[in-house]
Amino acid sequence: MKEWLKNSWYAVAQVSELTAPEMKGKALKKTVMRQNLALFIDGDGKYAAVNDVCPHMGASLSLGCVRDGQLVCPYHQFTFGSDGHCKSVPSIINGGKIPANALIDSYPVVEKYGLIWVFLGDTLEAQRIPIVTVPEFEMPEFHRLYHEVVWRGSVRPMLENLIDFTHFSYLHAQTFGHGDFPFRDNYKVNKNKYEVSCTVKVKINPKGWFFPPMPEAGENPDVTVFCRFHLPTVVVNDFSIGKYKDVTLFTFTPRDENETLIRMYGCRNYDKEPTTDESLKNLGERILKEDQGVIESCMPEVLPQLVGIPVDRYLLAARGLYDQFLKAGNSVEPHVRPTNRGFSLTVLPSPVRRENPSFGRAWGRKEAEGQKKKS
Ligand code: FES
Ligand SMILES: [Fe+2]
Repeated sequence: MKEWLKNSWYAVAQVSELTAPEMKGKALKKTVMRQNLALFIDGDGKYAAVNDVCPHMGASLSLGCVRDGQLVCPYHQFTFGSDGHCKSVPSIINGGKIPANALIDSYPVVEKYGLIWVFLGDTLEAQRIPIVTVPEFEMPEFHRLYHEVVWRGSVRPMLENLIDFTHFSYLHAQTFGHGDFPFRDNYKVNKNKYEVSCTVKVKINPKGWFFPPMPEAGENPDVTVFCRFHLPTVVVNDFSIGKYKDVTLFTFTPRDENETLIRMYGCRNYDKEPTTDESLKNLGERILKEDQGVIESCMPEVLPQLVGIPVDRYLLAARGLYDQFLKAGNSVEPHVRPTNRGFSLTVLPSPVRRENPSFGRAWGRKEAEGQKKKS
């Protein structure tokens, strides 16, 4: 997919998925942008992410097991460390050497906010875009609420839905959008190398009011929304009024061209009871349902050009940043490999290829051949 971004951090799993008791001795398979990854816990208790395809005969490593912090292929038990190097091959005897190319791509992993983030790409550490920061997640007065859904369709219309204020009054008039107050704010947009942000005022429909009652604020008070789009596909929407704050981190993970996993990680400093969790979840689901049909219908790719209006300036700036990063050599496209089964797999270069020139050259040759065939 030409529009997917590499050299970026993706939230690929919740920590609890990997640390669950039933995962002991096992690896967790995750697919991101058609790349199959095997996640596991290494000998130091650190999270590891490697390419799921065994270099011996191509078996899925995540079908194997994790023994002494190393990933064991189910087929012939080649055993890999979290650095991507093959550590042992039981069928090699009498001091025989492990082939130098028995290597797999191994990606940097960080745990943040209860999520496992994997850096998919080979950019040097000092040049990597940072993972988004949401200070409220570190504050004890904030209560967290996690929720996820899978939608049909490609990632960009879904992402743009979260950075578009204008549709609130129309598509969400039955929940939190206020039909009497269409969004027309004249706001300013801030931008850096990896983030676009703005602060706007919106009115919230009393039917979808999620803060505690505030009669003192009047009938239709302004709610302040601080919004951020962060590369590659992260949005943070921070709603506040008076002392109340409700912040949601959204991460969008394309699994393939037709399926995107949306993680919604909220935190708030009011009503921390489970009943409020339940009602906020229900409200969130209703809001998403209002979006879903329309967003899944969006096919911006068939248009020669999208039409922007002045009030979309935040959306347009975010789109511009995404395109700029994409065109700066961060498209996943050259790393997509056809399989014999009617679908393709992605194999993104990891820092391991930089450290091991023969491994890098082997993949580099395939990439060059693939590109030649296309041209
Ligand atoms: S395919 Fe993995 S060890 Fe043979
Ligand atoms: Fe929406």
